[in-house]
Amino acid sequence: MSTVWVELGEGRYPVHLEETLGGLPAALGRAVEGRRAVLITEPRVEGLWGARVTALLAEAGWTLDKVLLPEGEAAKSVDAWWEGVGGLLAAGVDRQTAVIALGGGALGDAAGLIAATALRGLRWVQLPTTLLAMVDASVGGKTAINHPRGKNLVGAFHQPAMVFAATEVLATLPEVQRASGLAEVVKVALMLDAGLLAAVEARAGALRRGEPAALRGVVARAVALKAGIVARDPTERGVRTVLNAGHTVGHAVESISGMPHGQAVGIGLLAELRWAERAGLCTATGLSDRLEALLLALGLPVSLPPLTAKALFEGMLMDKKRSADTICLPVPTQAGEAALVRVTVSELSEFVGGLG
Ligand SMILES: NC(=O)c1ccc[n+]([C@@H]2O[C@H](COP(=O)([O-])OP(=O)(O)OC[C@H]3O[C@@H](n4cnc5c(N)ncnc54)[C@H](O)[C@@H]3O)[C@@H](O)[C@H]2O)c1
Repeated sequence: MSTVWVELGEGRYPVHLEETLGGLPAALGRAVEGRRAVLITEPRVEGLWGARVTALLAEAGWTLDKVLLPEGEAAKSVDAWWEGVGGLLAAGVDRQTAVIALGGGALGDAAGLIAATALRGLRWVQLPTTLLAMVDASVGGKTAINHPRGKNLVGAFHQPAMVFAATEVLATLPEVQRASGLAEVVKVALMLDAGLLAAVEARAGALRRGEPAALRGVVARAVALKAGIVARDPTERGVRTVLNAGHTVGHAVESISGMPHGQAVGIGLLAELRWAERAGLCTATGLSDRLEALLLALGLPVSLPPLTAKALFEGMLMDKKRSADTICLPVPTQAGEAALVRVTVSELSEFVGGLG
């Protein structure tokens, strides 16, 4: 269907956006040498799509081993990482073996760190199976597991050799997971692309229902935006920080309440935007009301779960963008335009705590 290239100083890799998985063997053959791979996936995704992927690759002459991680955030634990590395070693991998990560963002983060660390780094490719993983997590090479002190605190940058996003796999995605991915689309639109924001507003009903044509349109645009940002800042030292919008509050809400990632990011985006408006940093009239209406139209929550300012404060202290008592917060200044500002953790947590 289309290919977006992620351009990096030392090379580049393709993100293939396809309707079906049919073109996977040919794309994989171009991306990695040899015909030997280990598929890392998790039970739910394996049950839905594992047989199809395995059959396609076996027909094309690939020798495949398989390593199963637990479903969801449980894959992002030190035990699952250790088991996963052990699975690769038991399969007898060598430096020519490719790792194929089949799953959502959690699976991709965990499999990516396993690939980054086994034998000091194996080539890997991502087959994202959630909308969130397609538009965000699979592009950019950030891998991570969680630490008791916070999400994604242990990880590495390890760019994949290819991303193959086949939108047919979204047909089995529950609505709550689709909405979670749409929150990341809203994030990138709000921060970088007023045209995409208007397009999401115009097609909110179709996107919420998961209509394939509507989803393909936003996936293509969101991936192109993400690829452009990653190319400018592969290791997140500057402009890429903009993509963390909504995550300071969102991660705190997610780790305290257990709410799905995208839902928490939507709440975080709205709370951080309301703070930016009150601080006079966002000058677009009524942008937070517009964002709230859009989140609701997409089936996303807009209200904070009952959290105290103190719990939020403690959650935000784990933010990777924090230094001493301030956080570098990306905020929209207009629809599709963003700035990085400094805010103290106490000011932000008290403001957000007051919204609940
Ligand atoms: N690396 C990055 O740049 C980056 C960016 C954003 C988010 N993330 C991470 O991504 C994670 C969230 O992503 P996610 O929501 O995709 O995680 P996930 O992998 O936990 O998937 C969510 C759920 O959807 C199920 N699922 C996956 N594909 C399916 C399909 N096709 N049909 C039916 N069910 C399916 C999974 O089994 C799981 O229950 C978080 O851990 C977050 O930190 C990483």
